[in-house]
Amino acid sequence: MSAKPHPDIERVLIDAASIQQRVQELAAEIDRDYADKPRVLLVGVLKGAFIFLSDLCRALNVPHAVDFMAVSSYGMTATSGAVRIILDLRESIEGKHVLLVEDIVDSGHTLHYLQQVLTSRGPASLRTCALSRKERPEAMGVPVDYLGFTIPDVWVVGYGLDYADTHRTLPYIGVLKPEVYR
Ligand code: IMP
Ligand code: MG
Repeated sequence: MSAKPHPDIERVLIDAASIQQRVQELAAEIDRDYADKPRVLLVGVLKGAFIFLSDLCRALNVPHAVDFMAVSSYGMTATSGAVRIILDLRESIEGKHVLLVEDIVDSGHTLHYLQQVLTSRGPASLRTCALSRKERPEAMGVPVDYLGFTIPDVWVVGYGLDYADTHRTLPYIGVLKPEVYR
């Protein structure tokens, strides 16, 4: 049943079935933890989280609404640590139970920044769900309440994750062949 991976992919890190199973497990955890809450606001971070969020929210039973933010790093290096909001939420989150949904935690700067910004807006609670986190010390320092997978410190694509806006819609998470970004 496993089709050949895309020719640009060196190896598949997490296959589609494993992702789908993990999403169901995360949704079950979230359902359990929010069972006594009237409603959860899922905040997806564009663009990377949109595929993960679309599967996650459809697996949830707890009443929820969905909104989006988009951020961009200042300059070309993701390591500068400066993050800027380029699309903000439509409504106030004051008094709401907010679950931030991210694709991947790499340096951790984006998540750290968003957690600070959203906390300052006075939600009833703020938790974070990330599909994946890289095995690097900086990333490990940022709190993630619901984590899909821990992955090696390599550039990955698929299931929402991109390289220069390509390979986002692969159903699995894979490592690009080096010649693709050379
Ligand atoms: P940060 O370094 O934790 O701030 O990650 C910033 C953003 O870079 C993430 O939300 C992703 O959108 C993107 N990113 C980081 N690592 C990868 C990767 O391996 N593949 C695709 N996108 C990535
Ligand atoms: Mg992202």
